[in-house]
This record gives sequence, structure tokens and C-alpha cells, in this order.
Amino acid sequence: MNTARGTCTIALALFTLFLTVILVGIPTIILAVPVLGNSSGRLEFTPPGSVNRSCSGAPQGPRLAKMQLLFEPTTIPSHCHAQLESDLLLRPLAADDDARGHLELLSVLTVAPNLADGKYRETFDLLRACPTTYFTIVIVQKSTDKVVACGTIFVERKFVRSAGLVGHIEDIAVSKTMQGRKLGLKIINTLEEIGRGQGCYKIILDCSKDNIPFYEKCGFKHKEFQMVRYMADPGPSRSPTSSRL
Ligand SMILES: CC(C)(COP(=O)(O)OP(=O)(O)OC[C@H]1O[C@@H](n2cnc3c(N)ncnc32)[C@H](O)[C@@H]1OP(=O)(O)O)[C@@H](O)C(=O)NCCC(=O)NCCS
Repeated sequence: MNTARGTCTIALALFTLFLTVILVGIPTIILAVPVLGNSSGRLEFTPPGSVNRSCSGAPQGPRLAKMQLLFEPTTIPSHCHAQLESDLLLRPLAADDDARGHLELLSVLTVAPNLADGKYRETFDLLRACPTTYFTIVIVQKSTDKVVACGTIFVERKFVRSAGLVGHIEDIAVSKTMQGRKLGLKIINTLEEIGRGQGCYKIILDCSKDNIPFYEKCGFKHKEFQMVRYMADPGPSRSPTSSRL
């Protein structure tokens, strides 16, 4: 009788253990697998054309992570991504943005012919090799994967002003079809924020008389004059790789 009761108790205990494993163990394993996957640094799949956004609105995700960018994307403050239409993406220049029409876009500003094979990439690499100096940003239209606006701030290191930094804004362009939609303003505001973040004590730029009202709307004021002398016979452009120094 006692033996039968003991067998019964053991069977009940085994059954309870079995149920516990089924009810608790399996869901735990199911929930744990994706977490373990992430902790190993694996990136989640993002469909082409889409971009993950953090709570702050800054674009994230594998697509951006896989691109070779001119500088660390978090240099662009997260609030700069706000109020941008959902079809538009603000980010640092990428090594292959020539394929997205970067040079065509610049031709609204000045002469910007296509570059010989490898020259775009070579120039990109030279700029990238000077950290905390060149910050070129672009706005890409996601539906067309075209660069529709761009601008640069480069940071000059000076001996004056206690080794102060001056930001120079250059090459601001918005594609003709996108002008008048505040993209120029957005580019300037973002470059200003980058300059502030780098520690620039002032930001300067040159512009045509026609564009003075635009820059005034961006908060700039007129000061001094620009002088220029174009070289009649410039030598071949030199780069660190061609220099003998
Ligand atoms: C100049 C340029 C960058 C402006 O970009 P944009 O996206 O068209 O301008 P925005 O929509 O951001 O304009 C912001 C404000 O400036 C005003 N503005 C823009 N361009 C202006 C101009 N040429 N004259 C007067 N006001 C102008 C806009 O009306 C707007 O004013 P609002 O806020 O009162 O509405 C763009 O037109 C462009 O790429 N032009 C050709 C290249 C060029 O000249 N680049 C500048 C080199 S210095």
C-alpha cells in the first residue's frame, strides 16, 4: 500500500516537472533567442529603401551602418532630423553618393562635371582622412534614392583666438525641383549645429548678392567683402599621395 502511494507521489512529481518544462521552458527559449541574437551584435534586417529611426528621430539601421560615411552620423544632432518629410533622409555624405547624383546636384551651383574613374572616391577618402575637419551632409529622397540637397562645413584650426576654430560653409545646393521647401534652411541649420558641436567660435561663408536674403533668413549678417584671384595656369592638383614632402 505504502509502495503504491510512493509510486503515485513520484509519478505526480514527474508529471508536474514535465508540465513546468513545457509551460515555462519553451516560451523562455523562444523569447531568449532574439535577445541573444542582438547581444552578439547582429543587425536586424531592414527592407531596402526603409530606414530605422530611433525615438529621437535619428536614422539608424543596417542600411546606413553598411554605408561608408564621411563622418560619424551621430555628429548630426538628433533634433536636426525632426520636421523632415518622411521621404527625405538627412545624413553624412557617402562614398558612393556620386551614383545618387551628388555632382549633378552641385551643378546648380557651379561647374561640377563628372569625374574620371575613381576620382570621386579618391577625393572622398582624402576628406575622410582628415577627421573633425570636413563635414558634408546630404538630404536624400528615399523614393528616388537621389541626393536633393547638400552642404559642407569645414573646420579651420587657427593660432589666433587661443587656437580657435572657424567653420566655413561651402557648396550649398538644393535641386531645382526641391527649392523653396526649406531644405536649404535645414542644411544651413544642421551645418551650424555641427560647427557649434565642434567648438567653432564663428561660422562664415561667401555668397552672391542674390543669395544674401536667403542667408539673412538663416540668421547670418553681412560683414566685410570677398576678394578672389583666379589662377590662369594652375599646376596639377596635388594630394598627400602625390606630395613628396
Ligand atoms: C539658395 C538655395 C540654397 C536656397 O535653398 P531653398 O531650399 O530653395 O531655400 P529655403 O526654402 O530653405 O528658403 C528659406 C527662406 O529663404 C528664402 N529664400 C531662399 N532663396 C532666396 C533668394 N534667393 N532670395 C530671397 N529669399 C530667398 C525663402 O523664401 C525662405 O523664406 P521664408 O522662410 O520667409 O519662407 C537654393 O535656392 C539653391 O540651391 N540655389 C542654387 C545654388 C546656390 O545659389 N547656392 C548657394 C550658394 S552661396
